[in-house]
Amino acid sequence: MNIDNIKKEFPIFNSKIHNNDLVYLDSANSSQKPLVVINRIYDFYTKEFSNVGRSVHYLAVAATNLYEKTRSSVQKYINAKDKNEIVFTKGATEAINLVANTFGQKYLKEGDEILITELEHHSNYVPWHFLRKEKGIKIKFAEVNNDGEITIESIEKKITNKTKLIAFTHLSNVTGAILPVKEITELAHSKKIPVLVDGCQSAPHLKLDMQDLDCDFYAISCHKMYGPTGLGILYAKKKWLEDLPPYQGGGGMIGQVKKDGISYGDLPNKYEAGTMATAQVIAFDESIKFLEKIGIHNIMQHEKQLMDYGEEILRKNNSVKLVGNPKKKGAVLSFTIDGIHPHDIATILDEDGVAIRAGHHCCQILHDKLGLTSTARASLGIYNTTDDIDKLNLSINKCKKIFNLK
Ligand SMILES: Cc1ncc(COP(=O)(O)O)c(C=O)c1O
Repeated sequence: MNIDNIKKEFPIFNSKIHNNDLVYLDSANSSQKPLVVINRIYDFYTKEFSNVGRSVHYLAVAATNLYEKTRSSVQKYINAKDKNEIVFTKGATEAINLVANTFGQKYLKEGDEILITELEHHSNYVPWHFLRKEKGIKIKFAEVNNDGEITIESIEKKITNKTKLIAFTHLSNVTGAILPVKEITELAHSKKIPVLVDGCQSAPHLKLDMQDLDCDFYAISCHKMYGPTGLGILYAKKKWLEDLPPYQGGGGMIGQVKKDGISYGDLPNKYEAGTMATAQVIAFDESIKFLEKIGIHNIMQHEKQLMDYGEEILRKNNSVKLVGNPKKKGAVLSFTIDGIHPHDIATILDEDGVAIRAGHHCCQILHDKLGLTSTARASLGIYNTTDDIDKLNLSINKCKKIFNLK
């Protein structure tokens, strides 16, 4: 696999940042976009545009077919059993809100418990908090261990006969911990508890197989998968999509509308109200082709080598402290440097064209647990190389010099 050639497919790398080449280490936040995806959006708007699922004219039918083609590609890519188990949303955040809202409406009452973990992104906490306020449900937190992992035991400990759903991340966007999804799902199902997985950070980096994982819900963020912004995916087992009420009301999601009653459309239309992110969905087919062309096993191998290299380099750099030490880890290197605020680190690195993220990364519960207000985070994508890690390290050294650290 030639990473230099892959990198050439991303026009952003022709840009200079403060007169430097871009070293993009913020893919956990959002990945850069290959030209095929950008061009697909341009071509769709210039030659093929129409809204989908409504009119019968040529452009409308062709656009609807393209939109549905992406649904089939996603189904295949994540090995879902049925094409109608794929619901397009505006992001993973909306996918999780959809489940919290509809599952909450139908199945939750005062005193019921939702089990999440201390690793969760705010997107997988705040929607459950709304239900805590509205319905008086309880939110329990499986505890993260010193290595920044969630073990199956820490989940098991918090399950009670009131647990109605377990919702957890597949791959932490701070510690990089990869959670044992299959085992947690087996445990939950043995107690008849459904499972929601936040797959935002895993989807760009790991092989996904919904039938093997057997989870009930899986949320995906397309803009982290070399795809357009404004698009996410909710995978949900068909039985849930049939059983749960609709999320939003409007055009496209109805069957019959009468003054005295409304019936809802078939799946997946029931959950896709209003005009959808048509161009983004159609362009996302190119992201999937891009990922498939490289091959997920090659992506995993490349990123693992890069992670090992990055960890080794940063561990050797005294005064850099890596956050978390999980046994199974994804493409995230979070760190702190005693005496330098992460925002100062990110600002100084940016002068060299090194783009990282600093802050709590939408994980305040985890940062509180770690006794930190923020961390610096370098996160990897398919276009990164060991050169990028070396430049990161050089910039960190420059930063330490400015702050008179050894
Ligand atoms: C773990 C995790 N969950 C959820 C989200 C939210 O995803 P989206 O931007 O698609 O709403 C993110 C994005 O940063 C994330 O990293």
